Amino acid sequence: MTAAAPLPPFSIGLTGGIGSGKSTVADLFAARGASIVDTDLIAHSLTAPHGAAMPAIVAAFGPAFADAAGALDRARMRSLVFADTGAKARLEAILHPRIRDAALAAAAAATGSYVIYAVPLLIESGTWRERVTRILAVDCPEEVQIARVMARNNLPESQVKAIMAAQVGRQARLDAADDVIENSAGIEALTPQIDRLHNLYLAFSKRTATIPSQRL
Ligand SMILES: Nc1ncnc2c1ncn2[C@@H]1O[C@H](COP(=O)(O)OP(=O)(O)OP(=O)(O)O)[C@@H](O)[C@H]1O
Ligand SMILES: [Mg+2]
Repeated sequence: MTAAAPLPPFSIGLTGGIGSGKSTVADLFAARGASIVDTDLIAHSLTAPHGAAMPAIVAAFGPAFADAAGALDRARMRSLVFADTGAKARLEAILHPRIRDAALAAAAAATGSYVIYAVPLLIESGTWRERVTRILAVDCPEEVQIARVMARNNLPESQVKAIMAAQVGRQARLDAADDVIENSAGIEALTPQIDRLHNLYLAFSKRTATIPSQRL
């Protein structure tokens, strides 16, 4: 048997389809003392004016992909990667390792009782699954997702469905999840579910902090 590698701290990967309620759920865990590391926010800051990924993006795609402020020209990049899967892979090769490193650094600096990584495409991405101790999926029927995103983003149904078609299906996400929050009713229906999981996660995080790694 090889020597046990240092055990990464207990962490949760929070995922769910568009509009399922990930941000709503993350806020409720944060209010109970969890640290949220939001990979969407990290991706956005990497491509904000003079963000850490901008030099590599300009080197790979050209200066036309940066706007006057030094931020990613999102509309231009979106139309490029929509039409060109090679370009999409090149962009992801720039962004994904940087998102991962920034997320791990944020987690290492976090002061909450445990870390929740919010990763919309956690099931799709492959590598995040191995990086978290438990996967938590927020689930609701697809009609509910569609109605929420249409209302929130003022989008037509066809556009919401197109976004959903690019994400893993509901059943595959449920199959990959260790824990599920059911979010088809009102916000108040979330409270008991989140209280129960928060207590479970607190117990797990205390246990992994005290058990020698060889015993896990
Ligand atoms: N249980 C609920 N009852 C009513 N509205 C809800 C409920 N949960 C979430 N919403 C609303 O639905 C919309 C989508 O929720 P939220 O932003 O939390 O989803 P998300 O999974 O983070 O979406 P995205 O994938 O776009 O980041 C928001 O406008 C939110 O206020
Ligand atoms: Mg969100």
